[in-house]
Amino acid sequence: MILTNRVLVVSDDDRWLSETLSGLSAVANRLPNPYQLSFIAAHTAAEAQALIASDGEIQIVLLDKQLQEGEASLPAAQLANQINAYRPELSLYVLLLDEDDRALLEDLASHAVDGYFYRDEVDFHGWFRILMAELAEKSATPFYDRLKQYVSMAKDSWHTPGHSGGDAFKNSPWVADFHEFAGESMLRADLSVSVPMLDSLLHPTGVIAEAQQLAAKAFGARRTYFATNGTSTSNKVIFQTLLSPGDKLLLDRNCHKSVHHGVILSGAWPVYLDSSINTQYGIFGPVPKQRLLAAIEANPDAKVLILTSCTYDGLRYDLPPIIAAAHRQGIKVIVDEAWYGFARFHPAFRPTALEAGADYATQSTHKVLSAFSQASMIHVNDPEFDAHLFRENFNMHASTSPQYNLIASLDVARKQAVMEGYRLLERTLKLAQELRDKINATGAFRVLELADLLPAEVAADGIRLDPTKLTVDITLSGYSADELQHALFERYNIQVEKSTFSTITLLLTIGTTRSKVSRLYDAMLRLSKEKRLPRTVGRMPEIPHFSKLCCLPRDAFYEAGERLPLLDEDGRANPAPLGRICCDQIVPYPPGIPVLVPGQLITDTILAYLLRLQKAQRSIEMHGLAEDGGEFLLRVLTEAERVQLAERGLLRE
Ligand SMILES: Cc1ncc(COP(=O)(O)O)c(C=O)c1O
Repeated sequence: MILTNRVLVVSDDDRWLSETLSGLSAVANRLPNPYQLSFIAAHTAAEAQALIASDGEIQIVLLDKQLQEGEASLPAAQLANQINAYRPELSLYVLLLDEDDRALLEDLASHAVDGYFYRDEVDFHGWFRILMAELAEKSATPFYDRLKQYVSMAKDSWHTPGHSGGDAFKNSPWVADFHEFAGESMLRADLSVSVPMLDSLLHPTGVIAEAQQLAAKAFGARRTYFATNGTSTSNKVIFQTLLSPGDKLLLDRNCHKSVHHGVILSGAWPVYLDSSINTQYGIFGPVPKQRLLAAIEANPDAKVLILTSCTYDGLRYDLPPIIAAAHRQGIKVIVDEAWYGFARFHPAFRPTALEAGADYATQSTHKVLSAFSQASMIHVNDPEFDAHLFRENFNMHASTSPQYNLIASLDVARKQAVMEGYRLLERTLKLAQELRDKINATGAFRVLELADLLPAEVAADGIRLDPTKLTVDITLSGYSADELQHALFERYNIQVEKSTFSTITLLLTIGTTRSKVSRLYDAMLRLSKEKRLPRTVGRMPEIPHFSKLCCLPRDAFYEAGERLPLLDEDGRANPAPLGRICCDQIVPYPPGIPVLVPGQLITDTILAYLLRLQKAQRSIEMHGLAEDGGEFLLRVLTEAERVQLAERGLLRE
């Protein structure tokens, strides 16, 4: 791969600009230039903005403070702020005349500026050296570098893991193939905490701390923590840090199950907010804004609000007013950005949760950037962050033997996002549009637009769609979702992200290539030509509203309970669980939203819904139901347990 990086020099002083460009280019040709830096010019603010938008290889902007205010121009401080708002990953250096200039710039745009040069101290050699150092700092991967260094110099290990850098596999007649499959480097880098030069994820003071600081800067956080147990664990860590038993928490019922597990672990009292539902396509949308704002208003004693943005289907909240309303009540906001970790690196996806004011954001770096599975980040901007408490909770959930390849992959994913995220996302956006157009041209498949996806009750809530997540309506193709997924996989080796009864979802990432797009299109075109008769697709059964929480989810979960069959002997709804309190979280998947949580009252509508779902879709999984010889069982509180909880004042009926 050829590396090309550009420095954009912006000035309306043509003579100075041309001298500076040739001076810097001459130094770049003469000196070692490992980043292949070259220099380009913009004469006006408008020209600079256009170049920054179109050229993903620009890494640094050198801005002449003398830039005059004119028709097509902006004062330097304003331009600096705009550049920073558009592409915060760009480095920005400003050329000043004197100290007054500097004071002014620092007042107006200090957060946007990475450094200053003085115009009259013309030192192209020195400037070039500093620009190189800037790139070296941005593109550094302190943990990955140290890991490589250790692997290349380590000889014999007398520590875990037991495969000893892969040696245990090598000469085995049984498992030598695994050595080849996993690869020498990956196995040598599978090390243990016994190697001090690799720092400790549980108490980082060295290269892991440095890598986390670089990530914090890149993602716009005060602090960033690397997690090797995914966003599932990250959500639980934050919950346990912020919530004590009995504390009130507002949450989108559509939240990932890790959030609901966090409710059990923390002992919090949850106030569930029903999500909007698009029953035509079986898609769950955000909680309506009015419902959210009303809940914030009605629960000033809540400690935390957690939302998912964007959702699996790419729907994202208009976060700033919601977060502002929560903050007015002193409620901390966590945003689960499991599907949105790349958003900081292209303006089409922003604002990110942190930019919108969130206190915490959790991101599955592995889902949408190039980290390995399970590698996530927790970003913190909470002004009252208690680092000690957080560390205790983090360490409670973290393995004492974290996988170092995962940590390295987070370091590398951050570097890639900073150095080429904009360029790659620009390409991903184009490919997403191309794929949209091509799929729509088949006539049998149609990519749903925001208006199709949005449930009516949130149509005016300012919700936006992440265009890299494509939800395709398949009803006209004559295929069921199961059949289509099967055909794509069996005939074309293509695996899609997920499906509902009438849609499939395709996920484009920075790793999506044009060839991959054309292979998918080709497959869908062939399938569309089969001219099957369109199927009549039923509507998804409507998820019942939340019934009632009778006790803390934690209290119900930790009781032994008794298990009651969902169906009676004739295959009809068994009335026995009616009116009882559920001990487990029951999540039909898809759609993946809990129908029951521990502590919730079981109603006839809920039982009827569970049965209808099972009949409507063959491939449904019922998470949380016990199974006994093919029979599904619900765990509920026994009468004695219920009485005991009531006697201890823990029941709210
Ligand atoms: C909204 C949401 N949050 C959290 C998670 C869990 O993330 P991870 O797989 O990184 O543990 C998921 C996983 O699908 C998710 O969809």
